[in-house]
Amino acid sequence: MLSSLVHIVTIVPPPMVTLKHISSNGIGSRCCMENFLEKKKENLKLCSTNKKMKSGNVKVSVREQVSPLFNVDNKEVATLNGKLQEQLREREMVLTDGIGIVRFIKGKVFLITGATGFLAKVLIEKILRTVPDVGKIYLLIKAKDKDAALQRIQTEIINTELFKRLRQTHGKSHQKFLLSKLVPVVGNLCESNLGMDMGIADKIANEVDIIINSGCNTTFDERFDVSLNTNTLGPCRFLSFAKTCRKLKLFLHVSTAYVNGERQGIALEKPFYKGDSIAREKAASENPMTPFPLLDVEGEVKMAFDASKAFQDNIVAKEMKEYGQQRARSYGWQDTYVFTKAMGEMMIDSQREEIPVVIIRPSVIESTYSEPIPGWIEGIRMLDPLLVSYAKGQLTGFPIDAKGIIDTVSIFLRHA
Ligand SMILES: NC(=O)c1ccc[n+]([C@@H]2O[C@H](COP(=O)([O-])OP(=O)(O)OC[C@H]3O[C@@H](n4cnc5c(N)ncnc54)[C@H](OP(=O)(O)O)[C@@H]3O)[C@@H](O)[C@H]2O)c1
Repeated sequence: MLSSLVHIVTIVPPPMVTLKHISSNGIGSRCCMENFLEKKKENLKLCSTNKKMKSGNVKVSVREQVSPLFNVDNKEVATLNGKLQEQLREREMVLTDGIGIVRFIKGKVFLITGATGFLAKVLIEKILRTVPDVGKIYLLIKAKDKDAALQRIQTEIINTELFKRLRQTHGKSHQKFLLSKLVPVVGNLCESNLGMDMGIADKIANEVDIIINSGCNTTFDERFDVSLNTNTLGPCRFLSFAKTCRKLKLFLHVSTAYVNGERQGIALEKPFYKGDSIAREKAASENPMTPFPLLDVEGEVKMAFDASKAFQDNIVAKEMKEYGQQRARSYGWQDTYVFTKAMGEMMIDSQREEIPVVIIRPSVIESTYSEPIPGWIEGIRMLDPLLVSYAKGQLTGFPIDAKGIIDTVSIFLRHA
């Protein structure tokens, strides 16, 4: 069934699984900015009240009154409760197995790009923790050789705090376990045959069941040619490789909710076809008789590469950044990143043939909720600078449309 369809899933918390709420500024809906900041404020107030109560010994908890022997403080009890609940939840999920994802993943071989990035790292940890009998996970990583790729796996993936739970579970043998599963593959989405050595490419093509393309250039105002190469042509190269894989069951491509560009109101998720654009859609809705040029993806690629050769070295980067922004806006997307991601989706759709494709479009991804560790996030980006400076009291003003809507999703992954 999968082979005849492109599945597009927007990752927002339930119940908004298939509908995407878009505000007047094109940003999806989760809660109003006003309410959001108010809630943060309340939380902060609550924290400071709790602190005061503790330091002033104003209140003695029921537990302390009942049993002076029970000298564990509230925080520890809450942590223990949380851990217990989480363990029960995990056990329940393993027992019930939801819609069968765990069963499906057992023994399956993966090829994943973007493993050193924020999203794929969490996914890899989750797979290894919940399905330890998964098959090999090949990780396509930019590196000069296999040793350097392995070094990146160690320093940027398995030695990070995110993998703490796995280290605890497997104790002394954790390195052995992790390295028996994670296989470094030197490669690059921007090179032909993904920059892979022919021997390893053949081996993967024989073994791989699931391909996940999370690799991406996430800079909003990247040079047009650079962004196109990774986000539009990269998925095409990956898809070409997927066609050589003998037992492939799934090609999962990670896109973004913001490919919806400046669409307004509530919009049903739908795939992009070649020629589509947000501006064309808008023009047609305003006046169906107005002609609007079809978006020519190959034409955009050719123009960008030609333009990059035409500029002098000292101005090429600046000019190509501006060019990308200008082309994105002229077709109704807000920046080069989402424009090239949308074109990546179009290329996948036009070239997939019989490949079973799923495209997911997460909104802004924020920290973990509770597992493997609460509040884990990498770097300060997206909404984080806003939250951090607000929490520190440094953000005294932020000009917004009070009815504007923000759309974030936790990177907390639960199997269904
Ligand atoms: N984070 C979010 O809030 C968010 C929201 C919506 C959608 N998404 C989507 O989720 C996916 C992952 O995002 P992320 O936040 O994890 O991004 P990220 O942290 O910026 O990581 C990007 C990853 O892609 C790799 N990569 C970049 N260019 C590559 C190339 N030419 N060949 C091979 N690998 C390459 C990077 O490798 P290096 O380390 O070698 O550079 C890195 O591992 C993206 O498709 C993004 O569009 C993210």
